[in-house]
Amino acid sequence: MNRTRRLRKNPTIRSMVRETKLSIDDFIYPLFIVEGENVKKEISSMKGVYHFSVDMVLDEVKEIIDLGIKSILLFGIPNNKDEVGSEAYSNNGIVQKAIREIKKNYPEIYIVTDICMCEYTSHGHCGILEDCGCVDNDKTLPYLGQIALSHVVAGADMVAPSDMMDGRIEYIRKTLDENGYSSIPILAYSAKYASSYYGPFREAADSAPSFGDRKSYQMDPANSDEALREVMYDIEEGADMVMVKPALSYLDIIRRVKDNFNIPIVAYNVSGEYSMLKNAVDNNIVGEEVLIETLTSIKRAGADIIISYFAKDVAKYLK
Ligand code: PBG
Ligand code: ZN
Repeated sequence: MNRTRRLRKNPTIRSMVRETKLSIDDFIYPLFIVEGENVKKEISSMKGVYHFSVDMVLDEVKEIIDLGIKSILLFGIPNNKDEVGSEAYSNNGIVQKAIREIKKNYPEIYIVTDICMCEYTSHGHCGILEDCGCVDNDKTLPYLGQIALSHVVAGADMVAPSDMMDGRIEYIRKTLDENGYSSIPILAYSAKYASSYYGPFREAADSAPSFGDRKSYQMDPANSDEALREVMYDIEEGADMVMVKPALSYLDIIRRVKDNFNIPIVAYNVSGEYSMLKNAVDNNIVGEEVLIETLTSIKRAGADIIISYFAKDVAKYLK
């Protein structure tokens, strides 16, 4: 008889044959930065996740480093928004200030920044609008280039464009190269779906579109071949790593990208995925071991790196 149970007999043998293991090295922890001082305010749609002012985020970064997390993903929520998202590329923008302050105190933390306009535009779309209210792809590109450059000048280690405009990776690569930043890598949000799982994030980042939706630039959740095309174009344009987002309803996409391309794959375990599980655990509907099971499934699907609001929980579990 084939007895597969032999290798499940005790924890030692199980861990020896375990194919997928989480490591804290695989995780990037997102942080939301707001203007002001002395702010540490829990986000109502995302229990356990906070808005931090620049002064207060420093303690948080210290805690993150002490837990063994090596990388953070920064989002900024500005005080003032306008049609063209000016604060997104201002040297005194919220993210730029946060990068400088964090790097001054903790140069070892690896800072990735989200490149998009929706937190900064008065209309909440991810680009510049035409009269029809449509997002003008090519008019948006120079703005994205300037945002990325301003983050890198402030000290960001990597930029991650999430806007889903065509040609943005090439544009940002060229902008960085021309300004002497050819060694800064780009993480492309390549297969980013128009997902309702971003709901809690949009509340946290105050970035919901004031009209319409993002379906003319983010991907249709029903498509899989198209994800491979997005990834292919981004790699051709110079992406150093590619992302699939969200993660849990898109594990099949992660696997297809893994099987088709030889490049590091990042999965974004997004806000709605976080809040659903967090609520279920907090209300004792499922045990908290479900976190490790869930994050392991993302890695097993083929993700090399996971962006997750659970990164601190994982770090504590692994310790
Ligand atoms: C900005 C951006 C979004 C997320 C990351 N970058 C929101 C959106 O596209 O509407 C979502 C992250 C999350 O839900 O955790 N474009
Ligand atoms: Zn956006």
